[in-house]
Amino acid sequence: MRRPLVAGNWKMHGSRAGVEALASAVRDGLPAQPAAEVLVIPAFVHIPDVARVLDGSAVLLGAQNVADASEGARTGEVSAGMLREFGCSHALVGHSERRTLYRETDELVAARAQAALDAGLTPVVCLGETLEQRDSGKTAEVVLSQLDAVMNRVGVAGLAKSVLAYEPVWAIGTGRSASPEQAQEVHALLRGHVRGQHAAVAEELRILYGGSVKPTSADALFAMDDIDGGLVGGASLQADDFLAICQAAR
Ligand code: 13P
Repeated sequence: MRRPLVAGNWKMHGSRAGVEALASAVRDGLPAQPAAEVLVIPAFVHIPDVARVLDGSAVLLGAQNVADASEGARTGEVSAGMLREFGCSHALVGHSERRTLYRETDELVAARAQAALDAGLTPVVCLGETLEQRDSGKTAEVVLSQLDAVMNRVGVAGLAKSVLAYEPVWAIGTGRSASPEQAQEVHALLRGHVRGQHAAVAEELRILYGGSVKPTSADALFAMDDIDGGLVGGASLQADDFLAICQAAR
C-alpha cells in the first residue's frame, strides 16, 4: 500500500507574512492523522519562516530545486545539505518551469536528483510532455526518456527513495487538468517501465499528478490506481482549497 502524498508548490508567490499565514492555516486545518502525507514547498528564502511555523507538526517541508553538487563554486544555487539543515525533507527537481524557462537538461535534473539523495533529501522528480509533443504522439517517448535520464543516474535504489510527479506542461496553470484516464495512462506507463527494472520498487514508488488539480477534480484523479497524490500549484495558495485536496487523497 502506497501512502498518498499531496504537495503544494508555492512557486514564486507570497510575502513573509502571507506565507506564514498560509503555513499556519495548513498546519491547523489538517486532521491529527491525515491519510495522506502533506508537503509544502515555499520559495527558498521563505523556508526558515515556514520551518518555524511547521515545527512539531506533521506537515513536511520541501524546496523548489536543489544544487547538483554538495558545495563549492555554484553561485545562486542551494545545496541539499543546506536545505536539510533548515528542516527540508524533499526537493523538486526538473519542474517544467525549470526545464523550459531556465533550460535545465535531463542530465542536470538527474545530477540534482543524485545530489539530493546523497544528502538524504527525497527528490520529487517532475516529468511531462508539452501540448505539441502530446499532439504528435510523443508523450510516452518524452516521459520515459526523462525518467530514464534520472534512473540511469541514481539507479533503481535511488529511485526507491524518490517520488515521481507527472505534470503535463499543457495542464500547468491553465485550468485544464488532464482527465483521470489520461493521467492514469501515463502513470501506469511510468510504473510499468520501473517494473521492468524492479517489481518491488515499482509497487512502492509514489507517482503524483500535477497540473490544475482543484478540489473539484482531486477525488476523481486520486481514485485512479496509479495516482498516489498530487503536486498542486495555484490551488495550494488557498489553504481551504489545498486542505480539501489533501482530504481527497486517501
Ligand atoms: P497548477 O496546479 O497551478 O496547474 O501548477 C501545477 C504545478 O506546476 C505544480 O508543480
